Amino acid sequence: MIHRRWLVTGGLGFIGSAFVRMMLRERPDVAIAVLDAVTYAGNPANVSEVAHDPRYSFVKGDIADADRVDEAIGQGVDAIVNFAAETHVDRSILDPEAFIRTDVMGTHVLLEAVRRHKIQRYLQVSTDEVYGDVELGASAEGDPIRPRSPYAASKAGGDLQVLAYHTTFEAPVLVTRGSNTYGPYQYPEKLIPLFITNLLEGEQVPVYGDGLQVRDWLHVDDHARGIAHVLEHGVPGEVYNLGGGNSRTNIEITRELLRLTARSYEGSVRHVTDRQGHDRRYAIDSSKAQALGWAPRVPFANGLAETVAWYRDREDWWRPIKSGEFREYYRRQYALR
Ligand code: DAU
Repeated sequence: MIHRRWLVTGGLGFIGSAFVRMMLRERPDVAIAVLDAVTYAGNPANVSEVAHDPRYSFVKGDIADADRVDEAIGQGVDAIVNFAAETHVDRSILDPEAFIRTDVMGTHVLLEAVRRHKIQRYLQVSTDEVYGDVELGASAEGDPIRPRSPYAASKAGGDLQVLAYHTTFEAPVLVTRGSNTYGPYQYPEKLIPLFITNLLEGEQVPVYGDGLQVRDWLHVDDHARGIAHVLEHGVPGEVYNLGGGNSRTNIEITRELLRLTARSYEGSVRHVTDRQGHDRRYAIDSSKAQALGWAPRVPFANGLAETVAWYRDREDWWRPIKSGEFREYYRRQYALR
């Protein structure tokens, strides 16, 4: 019996599709409408296992297009969860405009829809990158935001609008800020899936600079579960950090992936020119989400080994991606490094 209808924007992307698959599996009373523009990283194959579920429906469209947003809301929804975003820092350095359009304008259009349709709950999926480089300690939700890449600045612009709609219009909004996420179905432009697929193909992996930058890794299922938990239990107007608690340097990640794919450092690793404005370290304090009852469950060693195994099994998923638009992007991004 359907009791709740949720609009999930960006539901064909990496974290969005994990959320859609998990919610249709674990919440029998929830129906989900996905609105997705099917840009390069949105992939219908990510939801193929639930696409025939009668509780699933799909509208193709951009969150910055108010007509498509209204169409996807249809007769009404109880909640909107906004995963739709341009997310890759390197692409935001090459071409920032798409980030402003989706992450800033798209968020604005959704917030106006929340007001127009009197939606009961809106959750903005954001990122720990809005806090900027963290030399020591861990960022808490009340800390100032200091985004340093065009991507992080566009996400911060989205967050600030969301929070301003709570203050100004009492919009029932929530924000989650997740740490670096990994797992199955991640588009192979990000560190972990790029390195795994390159290594499986017998290619080299490009480590930026000295590789001593630190990220905190969160399994995609833990991230999806955290978003659902905040959606169902969070306090409107509040921000919740969702961190994996697995801080590693990029070199540590690389060495672990080399081990899991039985490749050698000397034969496989190429140190290349660093990313412009590269944030050295991210770290977030998730105690607020943990006090609400969420905690990551997937041990990192298991999650990483299972992710490698997934990419090994699912060449049918990633090979077509790596031969398409990706090839031109890879050339632009790495050829001159
Ligand atoms: O912290 C959350 C954020 O994590 C998300 O908001 C972003 O959407 C997501 O892309 C991710 O941002 P990062 O820039 O940290 O992720 P990325 O996988 O691009 O890079 C991780 C680290 O690996 C970073 O220090 C840069 C480095 N790197 C990345 C690539 C793609 C390399 O050394 N070589 C590479 O080829």
